[in-house]
Amino acid sequence: MNHAAKRDFLAIPDLSRDELRQVLDLAARLKRGEGPVRPLEGRTLAMIFRKSSTRTRVSFEVGMAHLGGHAVFLSDAHTQMGRGESVHDTAKVLSRYVDAIMIRTFAHAEVEELAREADVPVINGLTDLLHPCQILADLQTVVEAFGPDLEARAVAWIGDGNNMANSWLNAAHRLGFGLRLACPEGYDPDPEILERARGSGRVELLRDPLEAAEGADVVTTDVWASMGQEEEAEARARAFAGYRVDGPLMDRARPEAIFLHCLPAHRGEEVTAEVIDGPRSRIFDEAENRLHAQKALLIFLMT
Ligand code: CP
Ligand code: NVA
Repeated sequence: MNHAAKRDFLAIPDLSRDELRQVLDLAARLKRGEGPVRPLEGRTLAMIFRKSSTRTRVSFEVGMAHLGGHAVFLSDAHTQMGRGESVHDTAKVLSRYVDAIMIRTFAHAEVEELAREADVPVINGLTDLLHPCQILADLQTVVEAFGPDLEARAVAWIGDGNNMANSWLNAAHRLGFGLRLACPEGYDPDPEILERARGSGRVELLRDPLEAAEGADVVTTDVWASMGQEEEAEARARAFAGYRVDGPLMDRARPEAIFLHCLPAHRGEEVTAEVIDGPRSRIFDEAENRLHAQKALLIFLMT
């Protein structure tokens, strides 16, 4: 791998607007059964998971198989990284074996360090700060519902200003769609990411979830306590009590609005069963699109 040419995907703005469109177009073609045949024949992806996963692990692993390549699952329980081997040494060693590395971990800085030290492309499979691969799938799902003109869309984020909220902000910044977030005080998104996205002029941070949902095309939310915040769960349940996506909130959105959730979900907490299992929910298309969007991303970064 030519080091100078290597591209990483740690955050949505790592791709230009045109490149994002290119990846989303390829994802749609792959979903239709079109696109290159086994373009990653003989290539290998290392997948480092320092947190749990169902969708990310399976979609990357199956995606690599579809593309003719292979994925290697690495977890803290069974690697020297889990026993404290440095990111530097891990990056150098893995770069001698594999053609790309996907990592899910806690500190975003760790992924940045891995990307700096690795000689192969690094993909962020979720950090405490960002979850960009999920947003690719979410954008694909929005395009499926409303067509390719993402700029015309209005998205409402309800709840925690977490890794998903930050990634929606990055996408709004890059693609120029409207984004209204309703977060309780003390649970705002990352201030730098928020400020940069506000520069795009179509991003607002509110406190009132009903106001955020008004006229939206897409209503989306996430768990109140993310991975690593388990001991905050009770305090968070109190803070987020008014931030549940329910029928009356969905009624504030456009009649054709869709509901998205990256999953896993807690029915009865951040969203009612009526909404997440109702006719406006696109959660399983969204989960499926992880596969197509990431296959497109892998082709983009590895060929
Ligand atoms: N949405 C998502 O990333 O799911 P997993 O935690 O199951 O990978
Ligand atoms: N915000 C959640 C997303 C899980 C896919 C978490 O970080 O746990």
